[in-house]
Amino acid sequence: MTEKIKVAVLFGGRSGEHEVSIMSARSVMSALDPEKYEIIPVGITREGAWITGEDPMHALEQEAFESTQHAAIFADPSQKGLWAGAGEVEKIEDASDAPLVENGADAQQLAALSRVDVVFPVLHGTFGEDGTVQGLLELAGVPYVGGGVLNSALAMDKIAFKAVVQAHGLPIPAYVWSTRRRWEADPDALLDKVEAELGYPVFTKPANLGSSVGICKCHNREELRQGLDEAARYDRRLLVEVAVPEAREIEVSVLGNEEPSASAPGEIIPSREFYSYEAKYLDTGEDASDLLIPASLDEAQIKEIQEMAVQAYRVIDGAGMARVDFLLSDPTGEIYLNEINTIPGFTTISMYPKLWEASGIPYERLLDWLIDLALDRHAENARSERVYRSATQE
Ligand SMILES: Nc1ncnc2c1ncn2[C@@H]1O[C@H](COP(=O)(O)OP(=O)(O)O)[C@@H](O)[C@H]1O
Ligand SMILES: [Mg+2]
Repeated sequence: MTEKIKVAVLFGGRSGEHEVSIMSARSVMSALDPEKYEIIPVGITREGAWITGEDPMHALEQEAFESTQHAAIFADPSQKGLWAGAGEVEKIEDASDAPLVENGADAQQLAALSRVDVVFPVLHGTFGEDGTVQGLLELAGVPYVGGGVLNSALAMDKIAFKAVVQAHGLPIPAYVWSTRRRWEADPDALLDKVEAELGYPVFTKPANLGSSVGICKCHNREELRQGLDEAARYDRRLLVEVAVPEAREIEVSVLGNEEPSASAPGEIIPSREFYSYEAKYLDTGEDASDLLIPASLDEAQIKEIQEMAVQAYRVIDGAGMARVDFLLSDPTGEIYLNEINTIPGFTTISMYPKLWEASGIPYERLLDWLIDLALDRHAENARSERVYRSATQE
């Protein structure tokens, strides 16, 4: 029998989507085929400590770390695999002054725990989906599921993303941006610029976040001022963009490395004026936002959206997977690219896997595919020489 592939599944993390990540990871871990894979669950606390051991997911949920060990993947390819502390990890009361790990296990006492063949970061948002964890895994020389550093960072930063996809001719709503400091130093200059270039209504957003946190729809100067202040709570860089009139929210799942394919599009019917934090997570039961699979679109629209999704994915060096989100103006039929999520929600009822299911790829098969793609991307990267050698040299 061939040896099982060891998959370290990362979940939790330091972002506002800590709980969502735990839910996604629970689905992933219960669907990975035990005949093929050995799962090494690695939880990341809200403070950023990595934990492993018997049941790190339970430990994260209960904030009870007695049965867990401090874990690390060294950013040094000579120390491959997952390392873990010999002693217990106490709950981290206050990361600012308490020692990270108590009961004797500190970084010096970490010992090799397991080989890791591939890492599956099931982390959403900051410090997980934004290229930071991906950078760590690159340095450590471990294959991992999903996009690389550039892809993750570009998809996360709404301002950089817009500039790049616009340069490749993809349609996006008109926008202006500012740093927080420029906004604070001269608010009227930015308010005037938005009014001159965009008009109302507009959306204000922090450049790097997710889950609609810090996003406001603004209908006049006063709301714009409040919206920018709100966005400035969350980021150093701020974005303002024209509101797409009567926007329908269309989403497409993309899968693959250099030859990606797009699923049938789905549609979100938000429970509020827009797909806000409340509409995403707080409205439940009858009041919850709805997923429509497939979206009700004609053939030409479907084709256009799928082509745009694949093009956008390629432009930002997509790998593994991404959910590409569009805004379709109901009255005009115009389609705009909104954003790309490189680690989309991954519970069995989330849009990303549901769209593939509707397109003929069941959840378990999707996971196999993503792991194959991670190994393929790692192998393709490893082909590149890193040191100059003359082509004619012996
Ligand atoms: N330009 C826009 N026009 C219309 N609605 C928008 C626009 N930008 C954002 N929205 C609404 O706000 C929601 C969240 O914005 P989005 O840019 O997707 O941020 P997040 O990364 O937090 O999901 C969207 O799903 C949509 O409902
Ligand atoms: Mg969104």
